[in-house]
Amino acid sequence: MTLLIRPATVDDQPKIVSLARGERIKPTGLEWPRFIVADDDGKIVGAVQLREHPDGSRELGSLVVAPAFRGRGVATRLIDRRLADASGPVLVITGRAFDDYYRRWGFRRIRPIAAPPFVCANYWLGYLGGGLLALLRGRAVNHLAVFERSPSTR
Ligand SMILES: CC(C)(COP(=O)(O)OP(=O)(O)OC[C@H]1O[C@@H](n2cnc3c(N)ncnc32)[C@H](O)[C@@H]1OP(=O)(O)O)[C@@H](O)C(=O)NCCC(=O)NCCS
Repeated sequence: MTLLIRPATVDDQPKIVSLARGERIKPTGLEWPRFIVADDDGKIVGAVQLREHPDGSRELGSLVVAPAFRGRGVATRLIDRRLADASGPVLVITGRAFDDYYRRWGFRRIRPIAAPPFVCANYWLGYLGGGLLALLRGRAVNHLAVFERSPSTR
């Protein structure tokens, strides 16, 4: 597998949206300029973005890898590249179970109330909305947590 990890271009926009569709990913705010993608000979098989919120906070999100490419470190390479030039604090909302995974980039779990307002709101929207959907579909609830990577913990 020879994957190119690169910044997205305008041509990648529909591919990013279709990759995210059907996954537990917020379907809004998927604009290509903030994305890094994994390109398998012209086919987009992975993506991640750094969202910029109106309160100035930045959130790593929309992480997705096509099922056939999972478990081979693609997500790790995407996150590496997305964070490579990110200075200042970055937050991520993800399953509590992935504490160790995100620790390698210096992320530490924080209380949601301690997160910037937009990230805190996304946490509750994701938790309550996702929880409700999980109950309706008879799926397990994904217990979320907020993690922060501040310059001093890298
Ligand atoms: C999560 C996901 C992007 C991982 O992609 P991947 O290329 O298989 O990831 P890697 O090979 O780099 O690493 C695998 C690791 O992902 C970690 N991981 C990180 N965040 C994860 C998440 N939200 N869900 C599942 N696994 C996750 C696991 O801990 C796993 O570790 P392990 O190999 O020790 O078991 C992929 O499974 C996916 O697209 N899932 C559906 C969308 C999704 O849930 N996105 C995350 C939203 S918070």
